[in-house]
Amino acid sequence: MPILSIIQYPHPILKTPCEALHQELPGVGQLIRDMQDTLMAHPFCVGLAAPQVGSLLRIVVIDCSRSRKPAKNHGNLVLINPVITHREGEQVMREGCLSLPDYTGNVKRAVAVVVEGLDSDEIPQKIEAEGFEAVVLQHEIDHLDGILFLDRITSLKTDVFRRKTY
Ligand code: NI
Repeated sequence: MPILSIIQYPHPILKTPCEALHQELPGVGQLIRDMQDTLMAHPFCVGLAAPQVGSLLRIVVIDCSRSRKPAKNHGNLVLINPVITHREGEQVMREGCLSLPDYTGNVKRAVAVVVEGLDSDEIPQKIEAEGFEAVVLQHEIDHLDGILFLDRITSLKTDVFRRKTY
């Protein structure tokens, strides 16, 4: 179970939009397992997107049950080619990212989302999420489009913070 190393900002792969997965590719199952092991290796980490480990496939792994502030969530999720098909409301939450370990930021996102995609067995999934889990889904899916939370910050002066604890 290799723990993959996390690509750090400003590596250009983090700014590169990922390709949808249209056919079964060798190694995808292993990549997903390695992404899950890598997520588990980081305490309190709740999501990881493929470009953060150097792959330009549209794959995210999420587990909001690992959060320090547990809220309603679906536990362990693997989503291939996830698409946000519905968004509702607006909320601002403090976000962090393994690829930007020294900063957190206040980011405005939808309160509730519906996300459709495939699980690791390529079975279609429809996830209805709200609050913290909705934010995590939006953050991870952004990674697949080459967007980091810093790109969504309104004011670099007032909405970005240096991390004091990890
Ligand atoms: Ni991130």
